[in-house]
Amino acid sequence: MTLRVTVVTIFPQLIEQYLDASVLGRATQRSLLEVTVLDLRSYTDDPRRSIDDAPYGGGPGMLMMPEPVLRALADPRVVRPTIGLSPAGATFRQADALELSQADGFTLICGRYEGFDARIEDACDRLISIGDFVLAGGELAALMIIEATARLFTGVLGNEESAREESFALDQLLEYPQYTRPRVLDGHEVPEVLLSGNHEEVNRWRYAQRLVRTLQRRPDLIDARGGISPQEVELLHRYGYDELLQTMNKERLER
Ligand code: ADE
Repeated sequence: MTLRVTVVTIFPQLIEQYLDASVLGRATQRSLLEVTVLDLRSYTDDPRRSIDDAPYGGGPGMLMMPEPVLRALADPRVVRPTIGLSPAGATFRQADALELSQADGFTLICGRYEGFDARIEDACDRLISIGDFVLAGGELAALMIIEATARLFTGVLGNEESAREESFALDQLLEYPQYTRPRVLDGHEVPEVLLSGNHEEVNRWRYAQRLVRTLQRRPDLIDARGGISPQEVELLHRYGYDELLQTMNKERLER
């Protein structure tokens, strides 16, 4: 099986160089991934190869013109779903990466300038944003989506287990802290429990650490899962996180 990805961009070399230099290059060599880059300017029909124009109604900046993109979308190398990259799209999440990794492929359309003519948006199957910030163009967004997706595609990632265990993959909690040698580094020690050989205890501690990290760094994820359960409160209490529990919003405890 090959994941077929097509990218429409005015900077083909940006996409190609990154793909060559990364783990995705190896996936391409092994025919697990096939990325086709379409140069948007080759779908223009004027001598200046224009791809942008001023917005009707006024306003700052230039927009991506519809015709070159619509012509590119009619190229037989375009694989559906077609995805427009825009800060006005739905936020890309690990669940989306998983869904796309199970498709035959997809097409990413990179924007530049102040945005797309709305008819480009209408022509796309969906619009995706990689976060609540504005980039100068969609190329970095495309690379992020390709990488997040391809590494879930069987065979690209060396270790299937680590994909399953990592943040967001399981139950919307962040990953637990991990340690390798040395056991003591500038006075910072590896937690004793990890040296104990007691797997049950290690797993319990790791679960508590996932809760703690998520509460501290991403309380929005705790809210999204409906707070933490009485058993989880008990677990945190057991490891001495009473202060954290006290500072917690009361609703987060009512799961
Ligand atoms: N283009 C500019 N900003 C973007 C974002 N946040 N996500 C996807 N594409 C973009």
